[in-house]
Amino acid sequence: MNNNIESHLSEDRYFSPPAAFSQHARISSMEQYRELHAESINSPETFWAREAEELSWMEPWDKVLEWNAPDAQWFVNAKTNMSYNCLDRHLTSHRRNKAALIWEAESGETETITYAQLHAKVCQFANGLTDLGVQKGDRVLLYMPMIPKAIIAMLACTRIGAVHSIVFGGFSAEAIADRLEDSQAKVIITADGSWRRGKMISLKENVDAALEIYQNIEKVIVCRRTFQPIEMQAGRDMYWADANAGQSTKHDALPLDAEDPMFILYTSGSTGKPKGILHTTGGYMVGTYSTCKYIFDMNDQDVYWCTADIGWITGHSYITYGPLLNGVTQVIYEGAPNFPDFGRFWNIIEKHRVSIFYTAPTAIRAFIKAGDHLPNAHDLSSLRLLGTVGEPINPEAWMWYHQVIGGGRCPIVDTWWQTETGAVMLAPMPGATDIKPGTATMPFFGIDAAILDEDGKECAPNEGGRLVIRKPWPSMLRGIYGDPQRYRDTYWSDYDSYYTAGDGARRDEDGNFWIVGRLDDVLNVSGHRLGTAEIESSLVAHDAVAEAAVVGKPHDIKGQAVVAFAILKSDYTANEELEQALKKHVASTIGALARPDDIYLVPALPKTRSGKIMRRLLKEILATGSVSGNTTTLEDESTVQHLIDTVQHKTNAA
Ligand code: WT7
Repeated sequence: MNNNIESHLSEDRYFSPPAAFSQHARISSMEQYRELHAESINSPETFWAREAEELSWMEPWDKVLEWNAPDAQWFVNAKTNMSYNCLDRHLTSHRRNKAALIWEAESGETETITYAQLHAKVCQFANGLTDLGVQKGDRVLLYMPMIPKAIIAMLACTRIGAVHSIVFGGFSAEAIADRLEDSQAKVIITADGSWRRGKMISLKENVDAALEIYQNIEKVIVCRRTFQPIEMQAGRDMYWADANAGQSTKHDALPLDAEDPMFILYTSGSTGKPKGILHTTGGYMVGTYSTCKYIFDMNDQDVYWCTADIGWITGHSYITYGPLLNGVTQVIYEGAPNFPDFGRFWNIIEKHRVSIFYTAPTAIRAFIKAGDHLPNAHDLSSLRLLGTVGEPINPEAWMWYHQVIGGGRCPIVDTWWQTETGAVMLAPMPGATDIKPGTATMPFFGIDAAILDEDGKECAPNEGGRLVIRKPWPSMLRGIYGDPQRYRDTYWSDYDSYYTAGDGARRDEDGNFWIVGRLDDVLNVSGHRLGTAEIESSLVAHDAVAEAAVVGKPHDIKGQAVVAFAILKSDYTANEELEQALKKHVASTIGALARPDDIYLVPALPKTRSGKIMRRLLKEILATGSVSGNTTTLEDESTVQHLIDTVQHKTNAA
């Protein structure tokens, strides 16, 4: 029996890189991409050594790679420091007085910090941390708003070899306590509160509650941001200003081993307790540097903006580290995309003349729903390159992003990667790749990606299977903190010595990789395995639909029935007729097999705090009428009750 994931949606639109872009791009033709990619796969040590040599090392490596699957060591015995490479390296060049960070507060206030100023602040705080007894290898938990001090804290940790563990500021006290416990952190850096849609969110209060559960913390360093009243526990808690008081703005970055741990970042995955993904120093540095350079084609004139939060891997690799390694000017924004309205991002792009803009499909779909008049009211002509990350981008959302935001002139880099991979794995070369909307296109240099069936055989073109990486890469995770067995079981047990990503994908006849959804979410309808992404994209391509999620529901005959949840655009109203039209639309664009048995037109979908649709909850609601498991990663818990009621109501009516 054929157990592969089927694919029925095909995309024929092609967008070649604009000549004006290619002309100045580092990689300007597919021949050049193919040649370098071939070298990077056949002689990875040559390729990566050349990339690494563009950065500063305090001691050279003896060997580029030592690989005993699944354990990799990159740049063996080399010494370096990430903070040094992000800051000090630029101080002797024209970048010394260049803006490193342009921070925009939610209130609209801005602050610009040059490389030299950022360096001084990082050194000062590194000295402060050292005086508090923080040493190489110690874990430091950060629970911070999107303010420059968050980036300063990260760079100060890496400067002294302390291992940071960032917890997204929207997570609860329990989430903080779990992560403190697992990482055995000894210091916390936080703030009194943060601003979100004009309201104060209490951060220190959550830390206090977490410390009722986990008590092994020596110091809590608190930034003032909202100036709301907070409690400070004598002896344990101190203000950021006091940690910095009297400290020198000079500090020699500590030479660290390339394989010294750099940070832990917890990722929830679909089930089980969060995994502490461990990244180390040298390989992660080279990976984030190199992907920024080629995929975002960063150069000295760029003003780059990634809308992620530092609580996610995107905020680590493509806010703090990759861009600063490349010496660009970047915007960081404190608040929500819809404050005061959904025009805020376009306002920021116009105000700071942003040239590279990197955001998530979930945000793009929200902007589409909010209407074109908002971006149309702003001058977006400074943009030259757009990017997306986090989920497959539906082709219709891609088209909108390309036309309405990019004015038809900006390539879009759809970047596929994971917390575990540390850096982008699949993405176009913006000056070279012909792009079809909806595909992350091809592997980055050094990435040996393939799609395999259950027996480990490579799938034929357009046959869906499991996405794997067959060779180690510098920024790969080095383990799950404290749990080597779970590391092997989760990522390395499907195929001997190949990394399994947990995503389903297919490769088209031109070699483009299409992510069809998480393997856990694949539907099985009458023996046909269907990914979620294509059916969802078909729905989003209908005029009435802003966003969709598709899941399987137990069915006596078919095994699973296709059930769709859809959010309508604001000028459409839910009714029976529209439901029928949507079912028909899916059947005609994909095939009768994918035709939803039920469609729920709902006002909101359950999402993680990073904006991913939680299909597992929808599945559970359909199967059991309730949600039992952990919902702390939900962005808005009230969505779930509403969905339960909607499903209940429809079942009763039937
Ligand atoms: C999962 C990883 C990587 C930073 C943000 C998410 C999905 C991510 C894409 C993309 C299709 C994507 C995958 C992946 N994903 N980017 N461009 N196209 N799917 O990091 O939370 O570790 O999630 O996000 O399913 O496995 P993460």
